[in-house]
Order: sequence, then structure tokens, then C-alpha cells
Amino acid sequence: MTILGTPLTPHATRVLLLGSGELGKEVAIELMRLGVEVIAVDRYPDAPAHQVAHRAHVIDMLDPVALRALIEREQPHLIVPEIEALATDVLLDVEEAGLATVIPTARAARLTMDREGIRRLAAEELGLPTSPYRFVDSAADLDKAVAELGTPCVVKPVMSSSGKGQSVVREPHGARAAWEYAMEAGRATRTRVIVEAFVEFDYEITQLTVRHVGGTALLEPIGHVQEDGDYRESWQPQPMSPAALARAQEIAGQITAALGGYGVFGVELFVRGDEVLFNEVSPRPHDTGLVTLASQRLSEFALHARAILGLPLPEAITAHPSASCAVLGEGDGIPVFGAIDQALAVPETDVRFFGKPRVEGRRRIAVTVARGDTVEIARDRARAAANALTVSLA
Ligand SMILES: Nc1ncnc2c1ncn2[C@@H]1O[C@H](COP(=O)(O)OP(=O)(O)OP(=O)(O)O)[C@@H](O)[C@H]1O
Ligand SMILES: [Mg+2]
Repeated sequence: MTILGTPLTPHATRVLLLGSGELGKEVAIELMRLGVEVIAVDRYPDAPAHQVAHRAHVIDMLDPVALRALIEREQPHLIVPEIEALATDVLLDVEEAGLATVIPTARAARLTMDREGIRRLAAEELGLPTSPYRFVDSAADLDKAVAELGTPCVVKPVMSSSGKGQSVVREPHGARAAWEYAMEAGRATRTRVIVEAFVEFDYEITQLTVRHVGGTALLEPIGHVQEDGDYRESWQPQPMSPAALARAQEIAGQITAALGGYGVFGVELFVRGDEVLFNEVSPRPHDTGLVTLASQRLSEFALHARAILGLPLPEAITAHPSASCAVLGEGDGIPVFGAIDQALAVPETDVRFFGKPRVEGRRRIAVTVARGDTVEIARDRARAAANALTVSLA
């Protein structure tokens, strides 16, 4: 039997959320609904999940001393990573010492922290199909790898997300520019990059997979389009051939079983005919899964909350045809939204404003989600609502 306490009392069930963006905000709201005490952490103040948590902290989560001190002070039962860039050694120690449960596991957080751990697990240990790849540490080795893999190929810093530092090399002489671009944007001080053969996929999906007390749930596939390393639109369900769907589910089952623990995983896959290639996996709710705010009775965030608390999931989780469309802010300032009435005049449509305190450069600051009788209708609606909104930066 599962027991949940009361927040802000000695009988609270405490969750420490590491990363407080828009995805963490939805997880926090779902945990709050279940009477969990939520402590939200990010590297800047007033992050989205900070605004809906019992307590908020601002620390450098890559700093092992700061992270360890915060965990000791807050004594959470569960530590729920929302981002990849964490001092994962601390999470391994904390889990080992039995101080808290890391979601899904400390090892999963470590392996998915950079592209190398997860790619080697998937391709070399589990034998899952991926694009051919090489890891290189210098411009000279990159030239060699590009010659071996051929062009076009994709160069990505091993420590980066949201497409930062990532570029496509179309001709062998483009390798030098790709190297320099990757070095400028790499998150940590590491110079390692992965070079992958470019996959001419028909479409790409996120296979949301939930590991929970009763087993493993495979949600309906989510199709999406990416631009400049970030998703712009997603929809569910993505139509797939029975063979491709079976393969996608098989790969998702294998990689999530290898990572273990409870919670939602976003398994990113490329599909070409009936062939499916593994790209990467997030051991947490996925941004393209924002569509589940409209498509499913229990969104990926609600499912994450249930799964990590050891609560049961419904037998079948079905998706009504739905879509999401990202709203971006560009420039420098505080987001102010207008024409919301026009956006909401689109049938069966909702908007979510993330509450990000500031835009610097280009950032996702809201999303529209819509239902329809078909995915096409839902996509048109989500896009129409996003286009109707006005964004200014104060
Ligand atoms: N080898 C490849 N061939 C073709 N397209 C690719 C390849 N690798 C990546 N892409 C495209 O670039 C997108 C982003 O790549 P990837 O998921 O590896 O990077 P990321 O920085 O982790 O992105 P995010 O954090 O947004 O998931 C993919 O969703 C896909 O559209
Ligand atoms: Mg990705």
C-alpha cells in the first residue's frame, strides 16, 4: 500500500525537482495535486516551476558541493531531474547511501547526461540500430571521421541539448566550421563531439514509455518537427505501419528496461519505411509530449507523478487526435502576450504560458494545444492559435 503524507508537516512526501522549466512546472502541478511537498531548483530565480512549488532554490546544479548541501538540507524522498546538466556523481552517492530515490535511477541520469554514455549503451551493449557514428576529440580526428562516415553527417557536442553547437556537414571541407561551432557551444569544458551519418528519415517520433509499479506502458507515438534543434510542432498519434510501430515499441522497451527505475521516458526514434533507428532518450517527460496535455486524460506529467510515487496507471492510455505548437519569444525582455482571445477562439484549443521571467535570444515561452477529429485538423488549430497570439518583450 502506498502512503502519501501532508505537505509542510513532518509527514510530508518531499520531491526535489532539479530543473524548473516548463516541463518541471507541469510535473510540480501534478505532484501538488497529490499532496506532495515540492521543492523546485534552478540556476536562475523565478523559473516556471519555482512559481508553483512550496519552496524554490537557486543553485548551480553542476556544482557537487552546492547540490549535496541542498539535498542534505531538504532531505527529499525523491529527486526528480528535469535537465541533463547535473552533478550526477552526487546523485550516485545519494542513491548508494539510501538518502533518497533518484528518478528513474542515478545511473540513468549519469548515462543520459552526455551523448556518449547513452549511445554506447544503446548501440554497443544492447545492439539497438542507430546511425553509424564516431566520437572524436580533435579537428584532425573529425576530418578522419567525416571521411569515413561520408557526407552529409551531423556533428554534436557530447554535452549539449536543444541542438546547441549542432550542425550538418554537407561537404568534407565543412568539417572545420562544424568543429569550431561545436567548441563554441559545448556546455562543459569537454571537447568531445559525436559525428553521425545523416539519416534521411521519413518522419521522427517520440515513443513515450512509462515504467511503473504494474509494468511498462507504451503510449501512442508522437510525431514532431524540429527546427534549429528545438521542436516546433508535435502531434499524437503519428500514423505508423504495424511493423514500424512494433519495432519502435520493442526498442523503447529495451532501452527503458536497461535504464530501469520508475517514470516517463521519451524515446526519440527515426523511422524510414519499416526501419526504426534509435536517436536518444530522455529519462523524464519530453518536450514533444506537451501534446499529451490535450490528447490524454492523464498527460505525460500526470503519468510521471503517478509512476514515480509508485501509484498504479490505468489499464489503457489512449490518445485523442491532438497537436501542440511552440510559441517563441525572440529578443531581450519580459514576455507579454496579446490577442489571447483570438487564440482561444480557435475551437478545442488551450494555451499554456510558461511564466519565464525573461527572454534572451530565442526561447520557447508558451505552447498551444488543440484537439481535432484528425491529427491534421488538430495541427491546423494549434498552429492557428499560436499564430494568433502576439508576443512582445517589455
Ligand atoms: N543523425 C541524424 N540524422 C538526421 N537528423 C538528425 C540526426 N541527428 C539529429 N537529427 C535531427 O536533429 C534533431 C535534434 O537532434 P538530437 O535529438 O540528437 O539533439 P538534442 O540537442 O538532444 O535535441 P533535443 O535536446 O531538442 O532533443 C533530431 O530530433 C533530428 O530532427
Ligand atoms: Mg533530441
